[in-house]
Amino acid sequence: MILKKIFIVNFKNIHSRSFEFEEKINCFVGENGIGKTNILDAIYYLSFAKSYFNPIAIQNIKHGEAFFMIEGEYQINGRTEVVVSSLKKGQKKVLKRNGKIYEKFSDHIGELPLVIISPADRDLVIEGSDTRRKFIDGVISQQDKNYLKDVIAYNKVLSQRNALLKYFAANRTFDALNLDVYNTKLIELGTRIFETRNTFLNKFTPIFNEKYRVVSGEKESVGLVYKSQLEELDMETLLAQSLEKDKVLQYTTAGIHKDDLSFEIGDYPIKKFGSQGQQKSFLIALKLAQFEFIKKQSKVTPILLLDDIFDKLDEHRVTHLIDLVKGNDFSQIFITDTHASRTEDVIKKSNQPYKIFNLS
Ligand SMILES: Nc1ncnc2c1ncn2[C@@H]1O[C@H](COP(=O)(O)OP(=O)(O)OP(=O)(O)O)[C@@H](O)[C@H]1O
Ligand SMILES: [Mg+2]
Repeated sequence: MILKKIFIVNFKNIHSRSFEFEEKINCFVGENGIGKTNILDAIYYLSFAKSYFNPIAIQNIKHGEAFFMIEGEYQINGRTEVVVSSLKKGQKKVLKRNGKIYEKFSDHIGELPLVIISPADRDLVIEGSDTRRKFIDGVISQQDKNYLKDVIAYNKVLSQRNALLKYFAANRTFDALNLDVYNTKLIELGTRIFETRNTFLNKFTPIFNEKYRVVSGEKESVGLVYKSQLEELDMETLLAQSLEKDKVLQYTTAGIHKDDLSFEIGDYPIKKFGSQGQQKSFLIALKLAQFEFIKKQSKVTPILLLDDIFDKLDEHRVTHLIDLVKGNDFSQIFITDTHASRTEDVIKKSNQPYKIFNLS
């Protein structure tokens, strides 16, 4: 799958620009704030119908404008496909494929597989468990549509159950039968989600370990550990056990929405005990593992977006990365960098066809 062309209008700081891309490596170089990351984000938008960086859709419209539009032309198995994502103030976001409007964006997820590696990934290390669950869900969803449906359904039932708990508290009442309707659904969905996450992480962790070994040059050992209350007790027991607590707190305190993924370096949390370069290597390995996993499962090589990847990495680690790119593992790659000459030097070493876009 190749992105041949993109046309961007009023997206963030981009007024109107179009690009024709190289099949292998494309680099955007230019000063801070010129809009390099915004172009990657526009490419991301076509795959996920949302921004990787700014979740508030309307804030992605260029200041002072009324709409944005991103149009991408892809080559998929010899066919040309056109995907358009647009948003007009006061209206709903629209996503079209070959002129046909999607009813549900979730139908589009996984159709144009893509992995982004960006400094913003640091949130995965420093933020709460929610960010890491979203990461797990994102990787699985790109190649398992039923899983995404389960997660959406679980979250909906969860908020209904929480609303009911609030209602009970406000009205000093309780109705076990009513609550049971939601429990049954949470048990079914939660158990399935747990099993899928567990199976996924059993496959994913060895891939991650291997990627870290390559990126770091076998420097240090790292760990990726799935933590779920469902490892100890099943969902039904968990809900029963936490009922009194849930009634007091007026929300559901147990379930797969409490899962976490622990990032470790030499058995200690990387958040506290990893250097900046080690954290960055960890995140790169995580994303490269995501890339390989999606590629294996979906049989389509995802597009790879590398945002400011060379910063903070020592020369050895950059070389290891380039060696990876040299192999035939990747198809199309988009890179941003502030140093035009550094990028060109590094890219040349990969012996792959490339195009450099100098933004000004
Ligand atoms: N909705 C918007 N309207 C106008 N400008 C916006 C909007 N959202 C973001 N921007 C601007 O886009 C610019 C940032 O662009 P971007 O992050 O792509 O820069 P960059 O070239 O990647 O820079 P760096 O080298 O620092 O990473 C900022 O000046 C920001 O204010
Ligand atoms: Mg940037």
